[in-house]
Amino acid sequence: MDNLISLVNKIQRACTALGDHGEESALPTLWDSLPAIAVVGGQSSGKSSVLESIVGKDFLPRGAGIVTRRPLVLQLHRINEGKEYAEFMHLPKKRFTDFAAVRQEISDETDRETGRTKQISSVPIHLSIYSPNVVNLTLIDLPGLTKVAIEGQSDTIVQDIENMVRSFIDKPNCIILAISPANQDLATSDAIKIAREVDPKGVFDNGISTTEHVAVNPLAAANQFSGDATSAMIATQAEVTDNSWYADTGAMSHIATEISNLASSSQYTGPWTFGVLTKIDLMDQGTDAVDILEGKAYKLQYPWVGVVNRSQADINKSVDMIAARRRERDYFQSSPEYSHLAHRMGSEHLGKVLSKHLETVIKSRIPGLQSLISKTIIELEGELNHLGKPIATDAGGKLYTTMEICRAFDQNFKEHLDGVRAGGEK
Ligand code: GDP
Ligand code: NA
Ligand code: MG
Repeated sequence: MDNLISLVNKIQRACTALGDHGEESALPTLWDSLPAIAVVGGQSSGKSSVLESIVGKDFLPRGAGIVTRRPLVLQLHRINEGKEYAEFMHLPKKRFTDFAAVRQEISDETDRETGRTKQISSVPIHLSIYSPNVVNLTLIDLPGLTKVAIEGQSDTIVQDIENMVRSFIDKPNCIILAISPANQDLATSDAIKIAREVDPKGVFDNGISTTEHVAVNPLAAANQFSGDATSAMIATQAEVTDNSWYADTGAMSHIATEISNLASSSQYTGPWTFGVLTKIDLMDQGTDAVDILEGKAYKLQYPWVGVVNRSQADINKSVDMIAARRRERDYFQSSPEYSHLAHRMGSEHLGKVLSKHLETVIKSRIPGLQSLISKTIIELEGELNHLGKPIATDAGGKLYTTMEICRAFDQNFKEHLDGVRAGGEK
């Protein structure tokens, strides 16, 4: 995380310097363009537990049944010094330093919106954590996907939750943590199903790779990758040629390569799916998750990460995160099935994978940001030279002019970032 922290800090400093001139800071715009991490999956698959371990803090309500009933948008803000604290948007100016109280407030605020029911609400709770030990990042905890409405829920709840979840993850800059419990059949995983819908490049249909998919059925592959230039190419070719085209493996592998390149290119702006397999410790005796974790049962663009979170008994006994992590590490290292995979399993590894991915995404945006910044400064200087004399004699006028220029800068900045997004969607 250290590299990432300093990288984000550098960008933040640059943006603050540029935003300092006017009241409309460029910072929020940059923030919007940085990735957010959202957890999706079935109810009680372990979403809140995974999110907590990424943050490294105990603060989320967790447990059996429907616990997370409103989206939680969590913004981590890095501060240079001082004690860490949390703040809710609905309770401005109240600083929480006790994270057990944060958990209680999340739960109370959920009840304020929905009553103490089993209903859900799409109105998010906004929470900010200020700490010297985090990177600036947005994390989103979401209610679990379900298959049937239970007593006390509306008939439309299954679809309502699905739509709500989709609205959070179906956008650029979203890192989807698709959470599937190892003690359930992966074929029924809600996480995989919805992640594949919004990120077909990362979650291949039927778990086969792009190359295999294109070889088996180019038209279906084209549909799956709809929106890409390549897909149009496949579709046209498949339509205008007879079956002999299908047999042209050279063409197919070429297209498959192009799709793969597109999916991994720095221009692609997400969403990106990472598969997380939870509850490995709860699998039936005599079964294991090796095939899944090795990518043999279901292939993803990024390798699966298996984790062992705290059990309900651990939660009841208040087992702390450090102890839980140590136990998780021991679990993978000491089990004969998983020891060969231990180096790429566990919550700590997941944290590293995510921070590496964030770094790649952020770095891919730096050249654009840099050229924008230098261009803006040149423009700003030119503008000041042009207007220099008259405003120098009028302090009020000068301020006004600087502000105007900064507004223009802000606009430039926004347009540039929109350009980055649009460029990735070509
Ligand atoms: P969510 O509903 O998807 O947010 O899931 P939670 O994080 O609230 O977890 C649901 C329940 O499963 C809790 O009782 C957790 O303690 C338990 N749980 C989650 N992950 C694991 C795991 O890897 N192993 C075990 N044994 N229990 C887990
Ligand atoms: Na739950
Ligand atoms: Mg939850």
